[in-house]
Amino acid sequence: MARILVTGAAGFIGSHIAEQLLARGDQVVVLDDLSNGRREHVPAGSVFVEGDVRSAADIDRAFGALGGPIDAVCHLAGQASTFRSFDEPSWDMEVNGVGTARMLEGARRNGVGVFVFASSMTAYGPPPGLPVTEDMRCGPISFYGVTKWAAEQAVVLSARPESMGLRAVAFRMFNVYGERQSLTNPYQGVLGIFLGNVLRDEPIRIFGDGEQSRDFVYAGDVARAWIQAIDGSPEGATVLNLGTGTRTSINELWRASVAACGQDPDAWPVSYEDGRPGDQRHMVADISRASDVLGWAPEVTLEDGMARTVAWARTDEGATR
Ligand SMILES: NC(=O)c1ccc[n+]([C@@H]2O[C@H](COP(=O)([O-])OP(=O)(O)OC[C@H]3O[C@@H](n4cnc5c(N)ncnc54)[C@H](O)[C@@H]3O)[C@@H](O)[C@H]2O)c1
Repeated sequence: MARILVTGAAGFIGSHIAEQLLARGDQVVVLDDLSNGRREHVPAGSVFVEGDVRSAADIDRAFGALGGPIDAVCHLAGQASTFRSFDEPSWDMEVNGVGTARMLEGARRNGVGVFVFASSMTAYGPPPGLPVTEDMRCGPISFYGVTKWAAEQAVVLSARPESMGLRAVAFRMFNVYGERQSLTNPYQGVLGIFLGNVLRDEPIRIFGDGEQSRDFVYAGDVARAWIQAIDGSPEGATVLNLGTGTRTSINELWRASVAACGQDPDAWPVSYEDGRPGDQRHMVADISRASDVLGWAPEVTLEDGMARTVAWARTDEGATR
């Protein structure tokens, strides 16, 4: 049994990680300011600390909340929207950049050995080829991507013996989807936006021609990789893609979303608008390094994962409102 601090677990991905940790008998403390999460998403059995990852005092409260030393940190709290980062780059840099540096300082103060970080495929920007490997150069085209990349590199640096000596893992996550994803936030998560539209009987809006493509990975599979990283990542720093290696176009995705809700895609109203800044054209992950390093592979197909997400949305009263 280990003691794990998960930041951002009132949100979508963090709640899956906390849930899987608790299921195997770990003790979990959640630090989240509820700015974009929901208190009811924090899994039962975890200790909840409401607080801000930019505050050293809040961080130390979380580190002390389980009554013993924390073994590993999973840091996911942050602002997760590429598009909102264009409205408020300074806020993005504060929450995702300064917030991550404060969490690293908190890890050092509290003697933690393992730090796992939520980086993003947006760190790459337009890649020189597909599928994207971790060795490809990064050239982000959104403020969010810039900050994620900077924060990720701070995490990588923290692994050096002369800095903090952490065992550090940064996951460059592609498009994660699943239960507890926001279906109401128009800035975050295209699959959640489409499912929310269909479940509320709204038309779907596509930015660009819809032929841009993404790699959609189920949150339960992602959480499993995080836990394998806590248990078995190598010493030093490791950067890993988390995706499926499968490309899905936005046009394929909206049709699949309509069908997953039991409706007819041919009859659903769809409009096409200008593309948005920061929107990348094609992205798909090479996941061989995660397989080699962690022995990880995704298991849930897009069809199955969407079905699970729709089933959850239909039973959770707050999901679509
Ligand atoms: N969803 C994806 O596809 C995806 C892909 C790559 C990376 N990520 C990253 O993974 C992490 C989790 O993403 P998500 O989709 O679960 O988002 P989410 O918004 O559901 O979860 C983020 C959580 O962080 C909390 N938070 C925000 N600012 C905070 C602060 N200053 N202090 C404490 N808590 C704060 C929010 O309340 C929320 O509960 C984010 O860092 C995001 O950038 C997500």
